Amino acid sequence: MGLNMFITLEGIDGSGKSTQARALAQALQAQGRHVVLTREPGGTEIGDAIRHLLLDHPGGQAMSVRAELLLFCASRAQLVDELIRPSLQRGGVVLCDRYTDSSLAYQGYGRGVDLEQLRRLLDFATDGLTPDLTLYYDLDPQLGLERRRRARLLTADDWNRLDAQELAFHQRVHAGYEALIAQQPARWARLDASQPVEAVLAASLAIIQERLGQH
Ligand code: TYD
Repeated sequence: MGLNMFITLEGIDGSGKSTQARALAQALQAQGRHVVLTREPGGTEIGDAIRHLLLDHPGGQAMSVRAELLLFCASRAQLVDELIRPSLQRGGVVLCDRYTDSSLAYQGYGRGVDLEQLRRLLDFATDGLTPDLTLYYDLDPQLGLERRRRARLLTADDWNRLDAQELAFHQRVHAGYEALIAQQPARWARLDASQPVEAVLAASLAIIQERLGQH
Protein backbone atom coordinates (compact mmCIF):
# COMPACT_ATOMS: atom_id res chain seq x y z
CA MET A 1 0.00 0.00 0.00
CA GLY A 2 1.44 3.34 -1.04
CA LEU A 3 -0.10 6.73 -0.79
CA ASN A 4 -3.46 6.93 -2.40
CA MET A 5 -5.12 10.00 -3.76
CA PHE A 6 -8.22 10.63 -5.83
CA ILE A 7 -7.70 13.64 -8.11
CA THR A 8 -10.31 15.01 -10.50
CA LEU A 9 -9.85 17.50 -13.35
CA GLU A 10 -12.54 20.02 -14.19
CA GLY A 11 -13.09 22.93 -16.55
CA ILE A 12 -15.26 24.15 -19.38
CA ASP A 13 -15.04 22.65 -22.88
CA GLY A 14 -11.81 23.74 -24.54
CA SER A 15 -9.93 24.23 -21.27
CA GLY A 16 -7.33 21.62 -22.26
CA LYS A 17 -7.78 19.46 -19.17
CA SER A 18 -7.75 16.19 -21.15
CA THR A 19 -4.28 17.02 -22.52
CA GLN A 20 -3.21 17.87 -18.98
CA ALA A 21 -4.65 14.63 -17.61
CA ARG A 22 -2.57 12.53 -20.03
CA ALA A 23 0.62 14.52 -19.41
CA LEU A 24 0.12 14.41 -15.63
CA ALA A 25 -0.36 10.65 -15.67
CA GLN A 26 2.90 10.25 -17.62
CA ALA A 27 4.84 12.59 -15.35
CA LEU A 28 3.63 10.89 -12.17
CA GLN A 29 4.33 7.45 -13.62
CA ALA A 30 7.87 8.58 -14.48
CA GLN A 31 8.30 9.31 -10.76
CA GLY A 32 7.53 5.67 -10.06
CA ARG A 33 4.02 6.24 -8.78
CA HIS A 34 1.18 3.90 -9.48
CA VAL A 35 -1.27 5.94 -11.56
CA VAL A 36 -4.67 5.15 -13.02
CA LEU A 37 -5.98 7.62 -15.59
CA THR A 38 -9.63 7.59 -16.53
CA ARG A 39 -12.35 9.85 -17.87
CA GLU A 40 -16.05 10.58 -17.77
CA PRO A 41 -18.32 9.72 -19.33
CA GLY A 42 -16.64 6.39 -20.08
CA GLY A 43 -13.65 4.68 -18.48
CA THR A 44 -15.23 1.21 -18.43
CA GLU A 45 -16.76 -0.93 -21.15
CA ILE A 46 -20.26 -0.10 -19.94
CA GLY A 47 -19.30 3.54 -19.46
CA ASP A 48 -17.93 3.76 -23.01
CA ALA A 49 -21.22 2.41 -24.36
CA ILE A 50 -23.03 5.11 -22.36
CA ARG A 51 -20.57 7.74 -23.64
CA HIS A 52 -21.43 6.71 -27.17
CA LEU A 53 -25.13 7.17 -26.42
CA LEU A 54 -24.50 10.60 -24.91
CA LEU A 55 -22.11 12.09 -27.44
CA ASP A 56 -22.63 10.37 -30.75
CA HIS A 57 -26.22 9.32 -30.82
CA PRO A 58 -27.80 10.68 -34.02
CA GLY A 59 -31.05 11.48 -32.22
CA GLY A 60 -29.11 13.05 -29.39
CA GLN A 61 -30.63 16.49 -29.76
CA ALA A 62 -33.90 15.04 -28.49
CA MET A 63 -32.46 13.71 -25.24
CA SER A 64 -34.11 15.14 -22.14
CA VAL A 65 -31.99 16.85 -19.50
CA ARG A 66 -32.95 14.22 -16.89
CA ALA A 67 -32.24 11.32 -19.22
CA GLU A 68 -28.84 12.83 -20.00
CA LEU A 69 -28.05 13.36 -16.32
CA LEU A 70 -29.01 9.79 -15.42
CA LEU A 71 -26.75 8.43 -18.16
CA PHE A 72 -23.82 10.48 -16.82
CA CYS A 73 -24.63 9.08 -13.38
CA ALA A 74 -24.89 5.49 -14.63
CA SER A 75 -21.48 5.76 -16.28
CA ARG A 76 -20.07 7.26 -13.07
CA ALA A 77 -21.52 4.57 -10.79
CA GLN A 78 -19.92 1.87 -12.93
CA LEU A 79 -16.59 3.72 -12.95
CA VAL A 80 -16.55 4.12 -9.16
CA ASP A 81 -17.34 0.45 -8.51
CA GLU A 82 -15.23 -1.10 -11.24
CA LEU A 83 -12.17 1.12 -11.32
CA ILE A 84 -11.84 4.06 -8.92
CA ARG A 85 -12.52 2.41 -5.55
CA PRO A 86 -10.53 -0.77 -6.30
CA SER A 87 -7.59 1.34 -7.55
CA LEU A 88 -7.59 3.50 -4.45
CA GLN A 89 -7.75 0.41 -2.28
CA ARG A 90 -4.67 -0.99 -4.00
CA GLY A 91 -2.86 2.29 -3.42
CA GLY A 92 -1.85 4.91 -5.94
CA VAL A 93 -3.10 8.00 -7.66
CA VAL A 94 -6.38 8.00 -9.58
CA LEU A 95 -6.71 10.85 -12.08
CA CYS A 96 -10.24 11.31 -13.37
CA ASP A 97 -11.01 13.68 -16.25
CA ARG A 98 -14.38 15.07 -15.05
CA TYR A 99 -16.48 13.82 -12.12
CA THR A 100 -19.46 14.98 -10.03
CA ASP A 101 -18.53 18.66 -10.31
CA SER A 102 -19.15 18.43 -14.06
CA SER A 103 -22.74 17.37 -13.39
CA LEU A 104 -23.17 20.17 -10.87
CA ALA A 105 -21.69 22.77 -13.23
CA TYR A 106 -23.26 21.54 -16.49
CA GLN A 107 -26.60 20.00 -15.48
CA GLY A 108 -27.08 22.04 -12.29
CA TYR A 109 -25.83 25.55 -13.00
CA GLY A 110 -25.89 25.17 -16.80
CA ARG A 111 -29.23 23.41 -17.34
CA GLY A 112 -31.05 24.41 -14.19
CA VAL A 113 -31.46 21.00 -12.51
CA ASP A 114 -32.32 21.53 -8.83
CA LEU A 115 -29.02 21.50 -6.92
CA GLU A 116 -30.35 19.78 -3.78
CA GLN A 117 -31.83 16.90 -5.75
CA LEU A 118 -28.75 16.74 -7.90
CA ARG A 119 -26.43 16.43 -4.89
CA ARG A 120 -28.49 13.53 -3.50
CA LEU A 121 -28.41 11.79 -6.87
CA LEU A 122 -24.63 12.27 -7.17
CA ASP A 123 -24.09 10.95 -3.67
CA PHE A 124 -26.06 7.83 -4.63
CA ALA A 125 -24.23 7.41 -7.96
CA THR A 126 -20.78 7.66 -6.37
CA ASP A 127 -21.68 5.78 -3.19
CA GLY A 128 -20.34 8.85 -1.40
CA LEU A 129 -16.86 8.86 -2.93
CA THR A 130 -15.51 12.42 -3.12
CA PRO A 131 -12.19 13.62 -4.59
CA ASP A 132 -9.22 14.50 -2.37
CA LEU A 133 -8.18 17.22 -4.80
CA THR A 134 -9.85 18.87 -7.79
CA LEU A 135 -7.77 20.72 -10.36
CA TYR A 136 -9.76 23.47 -12.03
CA TYR A 137 -8.55 24.52 -15.48
CA ASP A 138 -9.88 28.03 -15.54
CA LEU A 139 -10.50 29.55 -18.97
CA ASP A 140 -12.61 32.43 -20.21
CA PRO A 141 -15.69 30.92 -21.94
CA GLN A 142 -15.10 33.09 -25.02
CA LEU A 143 -11.58 31.70 -25.35
CA GLY A 144 -12.85 28.17 -24.84
CA LEU A 145 -15.35 28.62 -27.65
CA GLU A 146 -12.65 29.98 -29.99
CA ARG A 147 -10.37 27.04 -29.22
CA ARG A 148 -13.18 24.60 -29.95
CA ARG A 149 -14.09 26.35 -33.20
CA ARG A 150 -10.52 26.01 -34.39
CA ALA A 151 -10.37 22.37 -33.37
CA ARG A 152 -13.64 21.70 -35.18
CA LEU A 153 -12.23 23.08 -38.43
CA LEU A 154 -9.70 20.26 -38.31
CA THR A 155 -12.27 17.57 -37.61
CA ALA A 156 -15.34 18.96 -39.33
CA ASP A 157 -17.16 15.63 -39.50
CA ASP A 158 -16.41 14.80 -35.90
CA TRP A 159 -19.52 16.64 -34.79
CA ASN A 160 -20.25 16.42 -31.11
CA ARG A 161 -23.74 17.23 -29.89
CA LEU A 162 -22.55 18.76 -26.62
CA ASP A 163 -20.09 20.98 -28.49
CA ALA A 164 -23.03 22.70 -30.21
CA GLN A 165 -23.92 24.55 -27.04
CA GLU A 166 -23.63 28.29 -27.04
CA LEU A 167 -21.42 30.75 -25.25
CA ALA A 168 -24.19 31.68 -22.82
CA PHE A 169 -24.38 28.10 -21.63
CA HIS A 170 -20.64 27.94 -21.02
CA GLN A 171 -20.80 31.20 -19.15
CA ARG A 172 -23.34 29.66 -16.77
CA VAL A 173 -21.14 26.58 -16.42
CA HIS A 174 -18.12 28.78 -15.71
CA ALA A 175 -20.05 30.71 -13.06
CA GLY A 176 -21.18 27.37 -11.64
CA TYR A 177 -17.59 26.23 -11.18
CA GLU A 178 -16.83 29.49 -9.41
CA ALA A 179 -19.73 28.87 -7.01
CA LEU A 180 -18.57 25.30 -6.35
CA ILE A 181 -15.03 26.50 -5.59
CA ALA A 182 -16.36 29.14 -3.20
CA GLN A 183 -18.32 26.44 -1.33
CA GLN A 184 -15.32 24.13 -0.78
CA PRO A 185 -12.12 26.11 -1.41
CA ALA A 186 -9.81 23.59 0.33
CA ARG A 187 -10.59 20.80 -2.14
CA TRP A 188 -9.91 22.90 -5.25
CA ALA A 189 -6.78 24.24 -6.93
CA ARG A 190 -7.10 26.74 -9.75
CA LEU A 191 -4.86 26.67 -12.81
CA ASP A 192 -4.69 29.36 -15.48
CA ALA A 193 -5.64 27.36 -18.58
CA SER A 194 -4.85 30.25 -20.95
CA GLN A 195 -1.13 29.60 -20.35
CA PRO A 196 0.96 27.34 -22.61
CA VAL A 197 0.48 23.60 -22.04
CA GLU A 198 3.94 23.17 -20.47
CA ALA A 199 3.40 25.94 -17.95
CA VAL A 200 0.00 24.59 -16.94
CA LEU A 201 1.48 21.12 -16.56
CA ALA A 202 4.32 22.35 -14.34
CA ALA A 203 1.86 24.22 -12.13
CA SER A 204 -0.44 21.18 -11.92
CA LEU A 205 2.43 18.88 -10.97
CA ALA A 206 3.64 21.27 -8.29
CA ILE A 207 0.17 21.28 -6.69
CA ILE A 208 -0.08 17.49 -6.75
CA GLN A 209 3.42 17.05 -5.27
CA GLU A 210 2.55 19.43 -2.49
CA ARG A 211 -0.71 17.62 -1.67
CA LEU A 212 0.92 14.20 -1.85
CA GLY A 213 3.51 15.46 0.57
CA GLN A 214 0.81 16.45 3.05
CA HIS A 215 -1.28 13.35 2.53
P1 TYD B 1 -15.38 15.57 -22.24
O1 TYD B 1 -15.26 14.27 -22.93
O2 TYD B 1 -14.61 15.79 -20.99
O3 TYD B 1 -15.04 16.69 -23.30
P2 TYD B 1 -13.80 17.66 -23.25
O4 TYD B 1 -12.56 16.80 -23.10
O5 TYD B 1 -13.88 18.36 -24.57
O6 TYD B 1 -14.02 18.55 -22.08
O7 TYD B 1 -16.89 15.86 -21.89
C1 TYD B 1 -17.88 15.78 -22.84
C2 TYD B 1 -19.03 16.71 -22.50
O8 TYD B 1 -19.85 16.15 -21.47
C3 TYD B 1 -18.60 18.07 -22.02
O9 TYD B 1 -19.29 19.04 -22.76
C4 TYD B 1 -19.07 18.11 -20.60
C5 TYD B 1 -20.22 17.17 -20.57
N1 TYD B 1 -20.53 16.58 -19.25
C6 TYD B 1 -21.70 16.96 -18.59
O10 TYD B 1 -22.46 17.79 -19.09
N2 TYD B 1 -21.99 16.39 -17.37
C7 TYD B 1 -21.19 15.47 -16.78
O11 TYD B 1 -21.50 14.97 -15.67
C8 TYD B 1 -19.99 15.07 -17.48
C9 TYD B 1 -19.08 14.04 -16.89
C10 TYD B 1 -19.70 15.66 -18.70
